[in-house]
Amino acid sequence: MKTMEFIDLRSDTVTLPTNEMLEAIKAAELGDDVFREDSTVNKLEIMAAKKMGKEEALLVASGTQANLVSLLGNTKRGNLVILEAESHIYWYEVGGLSAIASLLPWPVRGDLGVLDPKDIEAAMRPKNIHFPETALICIENTHNRYGGTITTPDQIKAVSKVAKAFGLKLYMDGARIFNAAVALKVDVKDFTKHVDNLMFCLSKGLSCPIGSIVVGTDEFIEKARKNRKILGGGMRQAGIIAAPGIVALEKMIDRLEEDHENARALAEGLAQINGILVELENVQTNIVHFDVSELPVTSDQFASKLRENGVLALPRDKKRLRMVTHRGIEKENVDKTLNIVDSIVKKLHG
Ligand SMILES: Cc1ncc(COP(=O)(O)O)c(C=O)c1O
Repeated sequence: MKTMEFIDLRSDTVTLPTNEMLEAIKAAELGDDVFREDSTVNKLEIMAAKKMGKEEALLVASGTQANLVSLLGNTKRGNLVILEAESHIYWYEVGGLSAIASLLPWPVRGDLGVLDPKDIEAAMRPKNIHFPETALICIENTHNRYGGTITTPDQIKAVSKVAKAFGLKLYMDGARIFNAAVALKVDVKDFTKHVDNLMFCLSKGLSCPIGSIVVGTDEFIEKARKNRKILGGGMRQAGIIAAPGIVALEKMIDRLEEDHENARALAEGLAQINGILVELENVQTNIVHFDVSELPVTSDQFASKLRENGVLALPRDKKRLRMVTHRGIEKENVDKTLNIVDSIVKKLHG
């Protein structure tokens, strides 16, 4: 029996490596990266630091590991960290910032994920024996739970002014920062120049099988390297991970625009289906959220119906689902998905 080929819109993490990436893995020069002897890793780290306009970079296993080594490198045990209330670090990283880094998260709600400097100031606590010391502000760009929304370079600059005024570090979870740069048609350095350090993921829209990169000053990356080691993340012939990363930085950034065009077409098509609600202005990059609350189904039930018809989407909450475009999704897949959603909705309307 032939298995069904799904149109997989759950996440851009489902992307498979390109043939060029697989060839690069085969051809990679390898060495022991804990001894700093893997020339492919070294090359990727130099490229990444340059692209981001920072002194140094460090390859790590995942976005979660990147965030954790960065939190550890920017703080001391018992510090308070201001982060966006819907941020990935707060929601989806197993509480590592408390469980491992011993930090107190102080969530501040942003507008579509964008922190307002005034709200950060309001969250600041005076020096007082009762309060922990605040060390860090974290922003997320693009913002996952708000549906790929962008914090613009000017908005980051405004947050960085508050950070400087209070002597805090500013960190960016830039898992999808290239989506933001491509969408606004600006150099990624326009975002990174306002933060002290950041991470970005190779394994999402850039299509690599594994890996994220932390970037910052020499001193910060030295600490991050040690923190990576204590977390068991010191890797040996990691050039097999770095080789596709090099292809990604050279070839996979500009094509993110296609994902954004497909996300826009998907969102506009969904918005025309009677009973599906989409906030079109929130669709800024490659993530589309839509609401089925006018239909007699939960989002789980809607996702099951999609699956029965060959489309995979992720329920976000009881009434909302998410679809993410990526290199595995072509315009014809978008059209097919819209037809399938339309026919499911027509049946639900009876
Ligand atoms: C904004 C953001 N940060 C961090 C991560 C964590 O990345 P990983 O799944 O590689 O641990 C994700 C994953 O989706 C994310 O969306």
